[in-house]
Amino acid sequence: MKQKGLLYTGKAKSVYRTDTKGQLIVEFRDDITAFDGGKKDKLKNKGSYNAEASAFIFQYLEKNGVKTHFLEMIDPRRMLVRELSMIPLEVIVRNVAAGSIVRNYPFKEGARLNPPVIVIDFKDDSRHDPMLNDDLIIALKLATQKELAAIKKAALKINALLVKLMAAQEITLVDFKIEFGRAGKTIYLGDEISMDSMRLWDKKTKESLDKDVYRFDKGDVMATYNRVVKRITKTAAPK
Ligand code: C5P
Repeated sequence: MKQKGLLYTGKAKSVYRTDTKGQLIVEFRDDITAFDGGKKDKLKNKGSYNAEASAFIFQYLEKNGVKTHFLEMIDPRRMLVRELSMIPLEVIVRNVAAGSIVRNYPFKEGARLNPPVIVIDFKDDSRHDPMLNDDLIIALKLATQKELAAIKKAALKINALLVKLMAAQEITLVDFKIEFGRAGKTIYLGDEISMDSMRLWDKKTKESLDKDVYRFDKGDVMATYNRVVKRITKTAAPK
């Protein structure tokens, strides 16, 4: 399998074609951005930390019956994946109120959300990812009713599995964002699940273990990412 031309480049990852039909390479770059690209930096090793966390999480989810695009790691920052036709939805699952839900609604930061709250945004940078509802998703033909039900069901299953994984490491999974895509009629989990896309709090100290360290200058971002990867991947994932 050989890497071919660049297919797509995003804020932190680049996607390349391969010489194998239906397979792509995702390269996790060292770029980090926040606030709609308003804050940007290049931080050494950031790509490999996120790639390692994502690969570990995808394999854990696969073992537990979630279909993901993950195939294998090629090197510490390049992941071979199944080619998907991406659905432009940012599916956010929240267990604890933090971030935009606290800014936009009368939730107190740190309040438990039980059952978890699913928020779906339209992945469209030029429109600043506005929030959708089921009717808008159907009217915009972004997904069918059946696909939407499957996406929400998968999101809750992924949440339950990730809550368990993080709890084993004394970490609270506050919230996370995932994206899905189609290959034929099947929906797969795509993109990444990493410290960039999850909000994680240390259970004891409540300290941020994710991109909030970068967003709000809370400390040494890469030292935090490095510690979190070690913590998440250090013990066998719970069954
Ligand atoms: O900013 P907000 O509180 O809505 O983010 C919720 C969760 O989704 C956070 O974990 C954040 O890192 C993630 N997210 C993301 N990409 C976006 C928006 C949010 O990974 N474009």
